[in-house]
Amino acid sequence: MKKTLRYILYALPVLLIVAQAFRIDKSVPEYDRSQDFLALMQAPQDVADLMRAACYDCHSYESKYPWYAEIAPVSWWVKQHINEGREHLNLSLYGSWSPKKRAHKIEECIESLKEGWMPLKSYTRGHPEARLSESQRMAISAWLAGLPDARFESEHDH
Ligand code: HEC
Repeated sequence: MKKTLRYILYALPVLLIVAQAFRIDKSVPEYDRSQDFLALMQAPQDVADLMRAACYDCHSYESKYPWYAEIAPVSWWVKQHINEGREHLNLSLYGSWSPKKRAHKIEECIESLKEGWMPLKSYTRGHPEARLSESQRMAISAWLAGLPDARFESEHDH
């Protein structure tokens, strides 16, 4: 038992060194920046700044990687969040969405802000600038709710 533990302790640094060879892919595909959500909606500067700080690392192609994202296995964990975040909601591709999808995603963003499940807690721990106050959450939600794109009557969908 003691021996096994010692082997594990010896192997750990080696594993960590080998892990560094598996770099994450930070490249993004070619995309049209004019189709970005904040650009198309002509977001006021304060809202745009807040959303860039609190949402855009995971929900756009404009992710900024912190220094610790260079180090495996943390880098894999960071990339996993980004992949998953973009999969669910990539605001860089907003212009290509249908009116129905736009309204639905805007509504979900409002919910996530009001209910507090976004940005992810694991993210705000390392990103103080992404910690939104109650009034900042209200300001973003109010702006989102007022967008013409937020109103989509399902009758139009036939
Ligand atoms: C650290 C990465 C990260 C940040 C920052 C982040 N999100 Fe997310 N978000 C995710 C991940 C991962 C998912 C998918 C899994 C889940 O729902 O937890 C998600 C899901 C969502 C969804 C659900 C989308 C759908 O249709 O399934 C919404 C809406 C959302 N996020 C809004 C936001 C908003 C608004 C912000 C900023 C205030 C934000 N997120 C910040 C990672 C992030």
